[in-house]
Amino acid sequence: MDTQTIQRVRNGLNDPRIGPETIALMLTRVCNFSCVYCRGGRPATKNNRTRNVADELAAEELFELLADAHELQAKEINLGGMDGEPFCRMDIADIMTQIKKHCFTGSLTSNGSFLNVKMAKMMTDCGWDILLLSLDAADASIQQTLRPAHDGKPYFAGIIEFLDFLNRNESGLRILLNVVISKLNYKQLPELVKFADNYKNIESINVLKMLNMGLENYGDLQLNRQELNEFKSILFDLNSNKLKYLGNWLGGGDEEESGLSLRGAEISPLLREEPKRCYANYYILSIDSNGDVIQCPQHQKVIEGLNIRKTPLRELWANEHLQFRRKMADYAYCFDECCTILKEQNKLIYKNITPADIEKGR
Ligand SMILES: C[S@@+](CC[C@H](N)C(=O)[O-])C[C@H]1O[C@@H](n2cnc3c(N)ncnc32)[C@H](O)[C@@H]1O
Ligand code: SF4
Ligand code: SF4
Repeated sequence: MDTQTIQRVRNGLNDPRIGPETIALMLTRVCNFSCVYCRGGRPATKNNRTRNVADELAAEELFELLADAHELQAKEINLGGMDGEPFCRMDIADIMTQIKKHCFTGSLTSNGSFLNVKMAKMMTDCGWDILLLSLDAADASIQQTLRPAHDGKPYFAGIIEFLDFLNRNESGLRILLNVVISKLNYKQLPELVKFADNYKNIESINVLKMLNMGLENYGDLQLNRQELNEFKSILFDLNSNKLKYLGNWLGGGDEEESGLSLRGAEISPLLREEPKRCYANYYILSIDSNGDVIQCPQHQKVIEGLNIRKTPLRELWANEHLQFRRKMADYAYCFDECCTILKEQNKLIYKNITPADIEKGR
């Protein structure tokens, strides 16, 4: 979040020609994994990939959406950050190439199971920008225990092949590792930091707090207070500037539970202040795999009646179909459950928007 984003939100309040800065596309709910802490997606087909899933937006529909997004001066297209595995789509390479043809910044979150030399070449050749790679351990057996593929096949070697290729070749691909912390891997973080240091394209390690998705085993995976303290000392000893703390480590009533005051994740003074307003939809528009507009990446609630298939993005924006944005900007009922990053961003925007800006937008 920078001043440009804030300025864009301010201008966007009364100028429908300014679209969302980022469009988050789920692409598919299909997933070939059953990670222990995730609700997961629908199981993939036999060959682990899928074609023509009835309700998914087709490539042509996505291309139209990209053309509209380009018109509306969007900057970034994010794939797969919410649910499902984007590489389960057979046409993923075409979609990524088209995104780059429009010169968007392309970011994609993946479980890594489809990575190999061919994928490294494709991503390098099309100029893909960011891969958020979900890696919970540098050890194949821990990784594949926490994040097993449905067919039980090992996949860690493919990730190494992919990373080695990038090491040997010039590639602008930036890799950010996503590591979800649980009982089974919190001691592995030093190994993961060493692993990351071996690969020039790995830029940072996002340390994610495990969220409770209502799965029965959550209690067995969650760190207890003693383990949290141990984890804290591990982190402080590591002193790596690659580590970033994302998610609900602090704030949102979570403080007591997490019991952590992680370096780099202290609650900003802004978070201590009130108004519960949300501007997320003025800078990031989230779309489900079937085209439904969803409230935000954090709270994936479908906005009734809004589907990109029935109402193309240009029309959605121009005709102010997105009234829900206004309501959220007045009072976001879900603010307390929101993640630290989105909350911080919201507060920052709120601080920089005057009541007159809001009034103008009505
Ligand atoms: C839902 S996945 C979708 C993309 C892709 N399938 C993947 O795993 O990278 C997006 C991110 O959410 C993380 N995630 C999944 N379940 C989580 C949980 N219970 N708590 C925190 N993060 C979680 C994953 O590790 C991944 O980095
Ligand atoms: S690969 Fe991603 S979407 Fe699939 S189960 Fe794991 S975390 Fe969830
Ligand atoms: S407050 Fe947070 S959870 Fe609620 S809509 Fe905004 S970004 Fe999403």
